[in-house]
Amino acid sequence: MIGSQILVPTKKNILKAAESLILGNLVAFPTETVYGLGASATNEKGVSRIYEVKSRPKNHPLIVHISSFSKLPMWAKEIPNYALDLANEFWPGPMTLILRRTDIAKDFVTGGQDTVGLRIPNNEIALRLLGEFENAGGFGIAAPSANRFGAVSPTSASHVIAELHDNLNHTDLVIDGGNAEIGIESTIIDCTGCGPKILRPGAITKESIATMMPHLMKISENINEIRFPGQFKSHYSPKAKVELDVTPLPGDGMIGLMSITTPDGVLRLACPLDLEEYAQQLYGAFRKADDIGLKRVVAIAPERKGLGVAICDRLRKAASD
Ligand code: TXA
Ligand code: MG
Repeated sequence: MIGSQILVPTKKNILKAAESLILGNLVAFPTETVYGLGASATNEKGVSRIYEVKSRPKNHPLIVHISSFSKLPMWAKEIPNYALDLANEFWPGPMTLILRRTDIAKDFVTGGQDTVGLRIPNNEIALRLLGEFENAGGFGIAAPSANRFGAVSPTSASHVIAELHDNLNHTDLVIDGGNAEIGIESTIIDCTGCGPKILRPGAITKESIATMMPHLMKISENINEIRFPGQFKSHYSPKAKVELDVTPLPGDGMIGLMSITTPDGVLRLACPLDLEEYAQQLYGAFRKADDIGLKRVVAIAPERKGLGVAICDRLRKAASD
């Protein structure tokens, strides 16, 4: 292992991490969705190291994390009312809004687009880190999921280390905040048109947005222009081959709701009781399959409703080769 220190989230360590971000170093930190690999969003050197460490293509934009609503106008302009309504309703929370950028959002963080992705995470450690970082003069923390490009997002500090330890150095830090509460990435909503358009499904569901603004959701379905997150074919993939909704054979791993029985000789990797547990356990189950060297994992997809839409999206991407 080349470097990186794992920190427990004491006040002193959070302060140390915030100051390290200001200096242009990387800090991996927990959020309620998945762990992020953070750098100061206005520090070109720090942000470019995110791309290096992840082997991520430079035109793939990063989400900027902020501590509070009051920071929104610093990063975004021409904010439509429906976006403010969404932010009021769901922030802090597992939702990223794509908005027109201000001058503070440089090409190196937006991948050259004239928009920026913004999120206030709902995780106490992330919010404390953001607070100390902003106190120290920072403006926002750019953070993709803390995994190598195309791999499974980490939902614990040990996953971060397993993914990135060869690429982090001794100035980089990892804050251990236990297991991520939600387990899959935020809902991404394009707010540059006349209504919200979901680019990546997540725990803030289409149903909950539609309840708030049914008229606008209808309009948005005709808009189709901006770069699509997770567009690359094999995203969120373990090394094991993932197949959906086939009968598992002896020696296969299996993921599916508890109500589905495990055939003889099949290793049950996750046995969630409901959709929330399915999301929480999914990426850990993929990692377990790789840790024990399974060749094939069969996942039984849940119904495409509510959180089931986001789970099916990740399963479908993991299964495509
Ligand atoms: O839950 C999450 O969103 C986590 C945690 C750490 O916040 N972050 C995350 O980041 O999943 P990442 O980089 O792995 O995925 C963010 C996606 C990317 O696919 C990127 O293309 C898209 O967001 N994105 C970011 N800014 C964008 C923009 N301005 N326009 C369109 N897509 C954007
Ligand atoms: Mg990611």
